[in-house]
Amino acid sequence: MTDRYQTLLPRPGSATAVNGTYELTAGTGVVETPGAEGMSQVVRELLTSLRLPLPTVAQAGPAGAVTIHLEPTSGTAESYRLRVHERGVDIVVATVDGLVNAIHTLRQLLPDDTWRAAPRAGTHWVVACGEVTDAPALTWRGAMLDVARHFFPKRTLLRYVDLLAMHRYNRLHLHLTDDQGWRIESRRHPEVHRVGSHRPATQLSRDRKAGRHDGTPHGGYYTLDDLAEIHAYAQERGITLVPEIDLPGHSSALLAARPELGVGEHRVLTGWGISAGVVKPLPATVEFIGELLDELLDAVPTPYVHLGGDECVITDWASDPEISAYQKELGLAAPIDLHGHFLRALGSHLKRRAARMVVWDEAFVTGGLLDDSIVMAWRGDSVARRAARAGYDVVRTPVYPTYLNYDQSDLPEEPMAQGGPITLPEVAAFEPVPAAWSPAERSRVLGLQFQAWTEYIASERHLDYMMFPRAGVLADVAWNGRPSTAAGADSGGADGTGALAAHLGRLAAAGVEYRPAAGPHPWQGGGTGDRRRQSGSTMGAEIELHERISEHGDVGTAST
Ligand code: ACM
Repeated sequence: MTDRYQTLLPRPGSATAVNGTYELTAGTGVVETPGAEGMSQVVRELLTSLRLPLPTVAQAGPAGAVTIHLEPTSGTAESYRLRVHERGVDIVVATVDGLVNAIHTLRQLLPDDTWRAAPRAGTHWVVACGEVTDAPALTWRGAMLDVARHFFPKRTLLRYVDLLAMHRYNRLHLHLTDDQGWRIESRRHPEVHRVGSHRPATQLSRDRKAGRHDGTPHGGYYTLDDLAEIHAYAQERGITLVPEIDLPGHSSALLAARPELGVGEHRVLTGWGISAGVVKPLPATVEFIGELLDELLDAVPTPYVHLGGDECVITDWASDPEISAYQKELGLAAPIDLHGHFLRALGSHLKRRAARMVVWDEAFVTGGLLDDSIVMAWRGDSVARRAARAGYDVVRTPVYPTYLNYDQSDLPEEPMAQGGPITLPEVAAFEPVPAAWSPAERSRVLGLQFQAWTEYIASERHLDYMMFPRAGVLADVAWNGRPSTAAGADSGGADGTGALAAHLGRLAAAGVEYRPAAGPHPWQGGGTGDRRRQSGSTMGAEIELHERISEHGDVGTAST
């Protein structure tokens, strides 16, 4: 029998099996020791697929119990100790987040059926005895889903919350607005979601200039009640929602509804790339966005809101008299300084609502940060290190290897993607806290995050294919703060030596259509039509991107 303690993913700090088993049955109770009152609900909620009652009991009966020990000084917020013995399971945690992590580990020790919505007949919930002692190295273990380029319905987000929790990711960053769609209801300004949430067509191939579009409307938005629900569901699973309103660039969809707020494109775009649809960095815009942020924070009281800041084309700011006058009034030397000023004004608004501003790294370069702002460094190691050296908290999000919307191999049958490849071994080899950095710089790395940009990911099936198993291996990197060996000696994933090979059984039970190690199933490939893989995708798009950024006054350099 496989030693399931050796198949845990992320890999735990220590995990040892001993002789014996415990079976969770209809007689298993949950004991809340003094101080842990109310925490048994977490156990029932996260183990609903077992179809066991798991009642709260004063003490273990003959069938044994899961016993929760809350010991605030036992470790860090997310650490846990889990001991399975022949009369039950003992869990020691410092907080409820530790308990959530412990239960997700317990699920991985149980048969894979725990990841099915209902177990097959005859499944016994038998766990091998043993002990796990575990704590994460990094506190920000994030996943970003771009729901602006393609809208994914609420049920997909709830499913992804479950999949992220399975891998002990603890942040879900939703990229909710972009040139091609605005996905947040506004009750104060309903024209924003009515107009901004849909487009008449979608660009098909990667060639922007050739301009092939599908002629099919695409859209959707989340009501504030939907977002509140996703937030609550994620919170129960140890995941904090990080909503993003991308500003001041990437704003064409907002400007379709409120053209007076911006310059450049005033329609919901149907194609990809960097657009000139940019909001004016003026007090009226700050006030308007502030109202939208207030509505969002009323529904989703999260400590982190992402304000974007990336890829902002500022040429039209320079030629707008009102903007120039405001720049002069503020005594700012150049239009680019308004980028930083605008983001700081919105960051201050967030601060009044007890939320920290998160931004892409361009905002670091233009001075758009408050002291406690968090920088997502997507343009490589150099800008990440400079932000850390300047004393800002940094989340590592470099294109290579955290943009999981990039190809997974050079095989011609891969489906079209934005760039790449970023192979599983490359993901496994990522060093999130570089040894070459100084201790002070290293201490600023909160963690890492993978990105799912969805220009070319239109369906949940394709999303699964692109994210898994790479997101599983990156979860191990995030949890342990160092490169992963979970995919086996050669990180190939199919050699049966790593935890990943066993983990694929869990993914399959959960219905995840992951990419097989040998390449796509025939129905996962790009075929010969508009979705065929395009050669030469390796760096071209990135180089073009960086040229455009520097063109607009942003001195950030790419080391990717
Ligand atoms: C980004 O890829 N524009 C953050």
